[in-house]
Amino acid sequence: MIARDGAKESLWQHTAEELKTTATQGGIYDVIIAGAGITGISLGLQLQKQGLRCIVLEANSICFGTTGGTTAHINTLLDTPYPGIIKDFGEDNALLVTQAVKVAMELFKTNIADYDIRCGFEEASAYLIAQDEDQVKELDGIQESCQKLNVQAGFSNNIPVPLPFIKAMEIPSQAKFSPVEYVYALALVFERLGGVIVQQCRVINHQAQMDLVTGKELIEAGTSLEVSFYGKALVYATHIPTGVNVLHFRCAPYRSYAMAVKLEDDYPGGLIYDMYDPYHYYRTQEINGEKYFIAGGEDHKTGHEENTERCFHALEAHVRKFFKVKEITHQWSSQYFEPADGLPYIGKLPGDTSNVYVATGFGGNGITYSHVATLLLTDLIVNGSSKYEKVFSPNRVKPIAGFSNFIKENADVVKQFIAKWFAAEDLESFTGLARGEGKVVTFQDRKMALYKDDNGNLHAINPICTHLKCSVAWNAAERSWDCPCHGARYDADGEVLTGPADRNLEHIEVRDLLDGQL
Ligand code: FES
Repeated sequence: MIARDGAKESLWQHTAEELKTTATQGGIYDVIIAGAGITGISLGLQLQKQGLRCIVLEANSICFGTTGGTTAHINTLLDTPYPGIIKDFGEDNALLVTQAVKVAMELFKTNIADYDIRCGFEEASAYLIAQDEDQVKELDGIQESCQKLNVQAGFSNNIPVPLPFIKAMEIPSQAKFSPVEYVYALALVFERLGGVIVQQCRVINHQAQMDLVTGKELIEAGTSLEVSFYGKALVYATHIPTGVNVLHFRCAPYRSYAMAVKLEDDYPGGLIYDMYDPYHYYRTQEINGEKYFIAGGEDHKTGHEENTERCFHALEAHVRKFFKVKEITHQWSSQYFEPADGLPYIGKLPGDTSNVYVATGFGGNGITYSHVATLLLTDLIVNGSSKYEKVFSPNRVKPIAGFSNFIKENADVVKQFIAKWFAAEDLESFTGLARGEGKVVTFQDRKMALYKDDNGNLHAINPICTHLKCSVAWNAAERSWDCPCHGARYDADGEVLTGPADRNLEHIEVRDLLDGQL
């Protein structure tokens, strides 16, 4: 089973065996890619095919992050509705976006055919369903914009799920697959073509002028070594880059909840979405001859839900209301980054030298945009330009229509910087911790993130995020400390699970402090 950035097991973790890769002790490459999720691996392969020598540095293991927890919808129907893209970016740019996602869809098919990848890929229609009159109006607007942008879509009287609806739109030729199987297959091809993957190597720094990337490579359990890599280009395929960057203020981290279930009766085909905010999404996937119905939703901003288990309960109640559930086999949650203005940021990293690139802000369309990023960045690195570079540019300053709302919505980034973090908590608050529970408390004038493990042992760490000093919050479902500002996540002991933080939370010797008081 492959590892993932949370305590809950996703449907995909058993679909691939860990890939053994070797430590490199540094080296010289054409392109260095940070992050071995779907974006990093597919980009590495594409560049390697173009004759560039690539290395992918992964802080944990392949698909450890969001790729291991996605629900893997490949769609050209985007989370940011087309009317909004037309309004904010203009019709020409919206057309470019639709073209980019169509080409991305083709890349999946080409990879799967060229390398004979068995990953349960299947084309299917997507259905967007309106369940009240406001949603009907919105749906009509989406349909109209689809016509303008030559996106094939039409109204349908039938949908493949037993959900009530007033009106539904069908968008043909979308797709679904098993993402971890796909990425691991690409990784093998990448290595076969001479690409290098190093796992357990976290990129902690880069000095672009010197073409130098410093990574921290785990040599053996508990021991790491700083290693240097030299490259002509560096790509952060890590959702959000390490260090401090304007993109940290243009992307907000969210979590989404998913479950895989066995149903009593027929499994619905297609990809289905309702229109609530947050919306629910559904589809079926076959793995090793077994069918699973996958449902998701209950999204919230990272670090903003005190009771993350509640989200699973709400999702389960919703699924049980409409489907005959025989057994819940998996429940998990995953993180994604919402962009300020609705489109992802793919291109040159703002404020850096011209050979550092980034791909982030994919929203709920991470799988589709991973391949948009692959094609766009390959063009930028190999040819110096791409027809899509302007519309997805991380340096774009317009349109900013959604930005003020986004800033309000993302205000805790700002608030966290100026607020006094120390809340009045007393000893009671943490003597009452249940096993498996975590909480940020203040004790003896010291702020602590406390976690009581299943054996009753207390683990204490400094809750101040090592990225930009926001205070982390406990995620009970995944047993992690999550930062609400830019989405860094740490395990119960404070070790970095996902960036942008590149250092662990500081340990506190709680036993000394609490001796005799619990
Ligand atoms: Fe930036 Fe925590 S992730 S402050």
